[in-house]
Amino acid sequence: MKEKVIIITGASSGIGLATAKELSCKGLYIIGIGRSLERCAQAEQEIRALNPDAKVQFLIANLASLEEVSKLAEDIREQLAQDGLKHIDVLINNAGTVSSWYISTVDGFELQFAVNHLAQFRLTYELLPLLKQSDEGTVISVSSGSHYRTKIHWKDVMLRKRYNCLLAYKQTKLANVLFMSELNRRLKSAGIKIKAFAVDPGLVNTNIGLKGTGGIVKKVWEIRSKSGTPADQPAHCITWLATEPDARKTDKIYWKDCSPLNPSRYSQRLDVAERFWELSERMSGIRYEGRMTSWIPS
Ligand SMILES: NC(=O)c1ccc[n+]([C@@H]2O[C@H](COP(=O)([O-])OP(=O)(O)OC[C@H]3O[C@@H](n4cnc5c(N)ncnc54)[C@H](OP(=O)(O)O)[C@@H]3O)[C@@H](O)[C@H]2O)c1
Repeated sequence: MKEKVIIITGASSGIGLATAKELSCKGLYIIGIGRSLERCAQAEQEIRALNPDAKVQFLIANLASLEEVSKLAEDIREQLAQDGLKHIDVLINNAGTVSSWYISTVDGFELQFAVNHLAQFRLTYELLPLLKQSDEGTVISVSSGSHYRTKIHWKDVMLRKRYNCLLAYKQTKLANVLFMSELNRRLKSAGIKIKAFAVDPGLVNTNIGLKGTGGIVKKVWEIRSKSGTPADQPAHCITWLATEPDARKTDKIYWKDCSPLNPSRYSQRLDVAERFWELSERMSGIRYEGRMTSWIPS
């Protein structure tokens, strides 16, 4: 039987680390991605403490840079080749950030948009050939209930003119739902069996709102996060989608606590999803089409 390979971005803390732990305890091979060598080493230690037989590797990348995302894909391919593996079963696009300030990335994008959306869009593209080699190829994006209360700000997607931390964050979480919905549609019409899901973790007690923030945003998160669930709860839903064959039988995109929910009406608009897809392709300098059609059914 083929070894099950799972890639998890943002596996050095919070929901990503909890998911890596649960999936590793099921005996799956985990490649975790993080931006800090130290935090990744700590995370790996925690996983091994739970499961001494864990098959786990960490790779380092700053997902704010598209070049680093491509380099990461290369590192993943190299790591798998060393392991004698030619497939990825599940890609969990979980890494996320919040920033109180407008920060421009090396590519000239707003930081939250780059890390929370463009990195997923590019990494999924890069890893699609390996996902196609699995009979159970799955892409999961960790979105948020905050996507319900926003739209794409077409005239100023980076919010350069009037930056607002929460507005920018919500837009990226809507981007996750639009991406997964449109990816599913495109994969299906190309006859590719990969499934894409968006997960709503609910309010979770992690440090996400304390890292790139200050002032009121930080204070509110200090108080609010305490009423959140432990990270194990959304990790369980992500694990379920990643491993449960029944999950693959459904056409439902958006999941919370192992149950499907309707995502926002706006996110279900085909014109919006298509327009946003084209914009994302232009921004990340790729065209998915070739990767979709070059697939030859076995
Ligand atoms: N917590 C919630 O209530 C909540 C609710 C809805 C959705 N979410 C979503 O859940 C996901 C995970 O968040 P979390 O709450 O678990 O937060 P977290 O504990 O801060 O985890 C975020 C992960 O992303 C990594 N990361 C951040 N910026 C990065 C970059 N530039 N390059 C590479 N990795 C980067 C972090 O690395 P470090 O460990 O080095 O910081 C960490 O591993 C996010 O997408 C978030 O939007 C969270």
